[in-house]
Amino acid sequence: MFEPVQIAPSILSADFMNMGSDIRMIEQGGAGYVHVDVMDGHFVPNLTLGVPFVKQLKKIARIPLDVHLMISNPLEQLPWFIDAGADILTLHLEALDEGAGEVEQALATIRGAGAKAALSIKPDTPVSSLAPYIEGVDMVLVMSVYPGFSGQSYIEGSDERVAEVAALAEKAGSRPLIEVDGGMGAATAGLVAACGADVLVAGNAVFGAPDPAAAIAEIARIATKAQDEALNRAGGETEASRG
Ligand code: DX5
Ligand code: ZN
Repeated sequence: MFEPVQIAPSILSADFMNMGSDIRMIEQGGAGYVHVDVMDGHFVPNLTLGVPFVKQLKKIARIPLDVHLMISNPLEQLPWFIDAGADILTLHLEALDEGAGEVEQALATIRGAGAKAALSIKPDTPVSSLAPYIEGVDMVLVMSVYPGFSGQSYIEGSDERVAEVAALAEKAGSRPLIEVDGGMGAATAGLVAACGADVLVAGNAVFGAPDPAAAIAEIARIATKAQDEALNRAGGETEASRG
């Protein structure tokens, strides 16, 4: 039912002047991915980093790059990010023209290049809008804040949206990874892990901690414990229904 939870520290909260050592630190701390937040000042109000940065990052990171594109017209820049070495590419459903077949085109371009394809939805986008694509994605990213800035508070009820995505995938007979992004930390990791989240993005909770490696381990421990408890509850319910 559950995959081991992975932590994906968001380097938006890292020290840009010491990126190499921050990457080493999270790798040694057991991070599963480097989460890279690309913002264009248009799809979201903030402007962060782009293709040349991802290219440089690829040279030093030993764990996969999880590139979260918060940009308008992502199809235009997609090939550049693939060439730069992104291992997972996440596009926002809201940034694609569904009627023009852009979602299918994006997923095919990413997978055709041998990378993993993910779709993300903002907090106001219904989970059901992922239904036509759920079988064709490697991962779904559920935003638990409005995209644009690190350090925001987790939006209550996002865990229910994670459970909805898990149910949607199960119904379709597929098993994409489910990633949650925004306001993740010791207080919120358990909530979403119990609902089926596999990858937790954490910016502030990792890089704002006195010991980022210890923070990664602690968030992962809490998430794993919540998964175990959810499994025990599900087991108990099955027992009870058998009478
Ligand atoms: C928000 C970004 C997040 C953000 C996470 O738009 O997609 O990845 O940096 O930061 P925290 O964990 O601090 O909420
Ligand atoms: Zn992100």
